[in-house]
Amino acid sequence: SEERQRRLRQPIVAVLGHVDHGKTTLLDKIRGTTVAAKEPGQITQHVGASLVPSNVIEKVTEPLKKLIPTVKLELPGLLFIDTPGHEIFTNLRKRGGAVADLAILVVDIMEGFQPQTYEAVEILKQRKVPFIVAANKVDRIPGWRPNPDQPILISMRKQDPSVIEFMDNQIYKIMGELAKMGFDSDRFDRIKNYTRQIAIVPISAKTGEGVPELLALLAGLAQRFMKGKLKYVEGPAKGVVMEVKEEPGYGSTIDTIIYDGIIKQGDTIVVGGIEEPIVTKVRALLIPEPLQEIRATKRFRAVDEVSAAAGVKIVAPGLDKAVAGAPIYVVEREEDLEKIKEQVKKEVEEVLIETDAEGVIVKADTLGTLEALVQFLRSRNIPVRMARVGPVTKRDVMEAIAVKRHKKEYGVILAFNVKVLPEAKELAEKEGIKIFQHNVIYKLIEDFEEWLNKLKE
Ligand code: GTP
Ligand code: MG
Repeated sequence: SEERQRRLRQPIVAVLGHVDHGKTTLLDKIRGTTVAAKEPGQITQHVGASLVPSNVIEKVTEPLKKLIPTVKLELPGLLFIDTPGHEIFTNLRKRGGAVADLAILVVDIMEGFQPQTYEAVEILKQRKVPFIVAANKVDRIPGWRPNPDQPILISMRKQDPSVIEFMDNQIYKIMGELAKMGFDSDRFDRIKNYTRQIAIVPISAKTGEGVPELLALLAGLAQRFMKGKLKYVEGPAKGVVMEVKEEPGYGSTIDTIIYDGIIKQGDTIVVGGIEEPIVTKVRALLIPEPLQEIRATKRFRAVDEVSAAAGVKIVAPGLDKAVAGAPIYVVEREEDLEKIKEQVKKEVEEVLIETDAEGVIVKADTLGTLEALVQFLRSRNIPVRMARVGPVTKRDVMEAIAVKRHKKEYGVILAFNVKVLPEAKELAEKEGIKIFQHNVIYKLIEDFEEWLNKLKE
């Protein structure tokens, strides 16, 4: 409709940065949720998506009205993508960066640039994604006086000059690192040209200070410089599979980010699959309630159609063989089907996992984490014989038994965030096959490496 065409779609905002620098806590602050505190090992291990509607953005930025004339929000909201900062998850950071219109780079102001901060900037640079920097954890600056949920401009006035001096020093260091990577930046209130300089906003995800400016700047950037890109499109949906999951009552489902067009119940879709592209029909579309994180919530609403940008859980037959990171396309015209299948096939070949003859058996909850685990093991020169999503089965144990005959150290199973079926456990005990099991990915690897080192002694 005409009204739709005038509308802007939600920009996709990826939140990137080093582990523990406060990405999930920042989103929790904005949404009024407590996702970070419930994560195993206090780290993010899957990509998340959540919609923040414009009325929430208006509420958070409300205190700014005292300071500056705020612009009217034309955007329906912002779709935030949370990404893991742990080094193992390069694949998921790239995936988050790939779909982003805009990004927030979160940097702990006390720690400054760390390895995954550089990596994140590299991803944004390659993809030409405009970003702003949240210099987080200002409340940890010695002597800082917190002013909860206030604009940072107000909070800064209430600090000792020495505290501000310390803060600015840390910001200069961030500016220096960005300069080395080819970016001109400055503290947001000193910026003259937002198209050329990157804004650094001091914030605290814990106290909420600076979050009003951060959101206002994000929305402003999107409205001023990306309008062309954010025009609402009426065509068939395009998206990316973030995770593949078993959901009780639904069977296999995919969590997707739809970045373009519309998807409807009953639509024919093509999704990248393990062996070949999957052609199936959408049985149900489930969206998380606004402000709910797709990877954390159980509260979904079934809808008839969804338009970009959105995080959507798709229920359809045959999705158990879908590949995280693969594209998903709605097929509007029958005659396009073969062409789209070819396209999907080409794109999927890039994310598939190759295996070795002798190596460990890896099981994980999703293809995203499986891929991260395998890539990490490879970087440590540990071969992988089999990598699959799902619980540990008797067949997995039999594979490990076969490996153990030739290579004792690799005749094991690494299981991330999945169950071990009873008959598998029984056989493993009988045959002396070690199963490493953990819901924190780096602890799983640590346990295995410790065991490996003991074996070598
Ligand atoms: P990964 O997803 O694993 O990369 O971490 P993250 O960047 O999402 O960090 P997370 O939000 O989980 O926060 C890590 C720790 O820092 C938690 O203990 C938070 O409570 C704490 N934290 C985050 N932001 C702030 C802040 O502004 N101030 C203080 N004092 N602590 C913070
Ligand atoms: Mg996190």
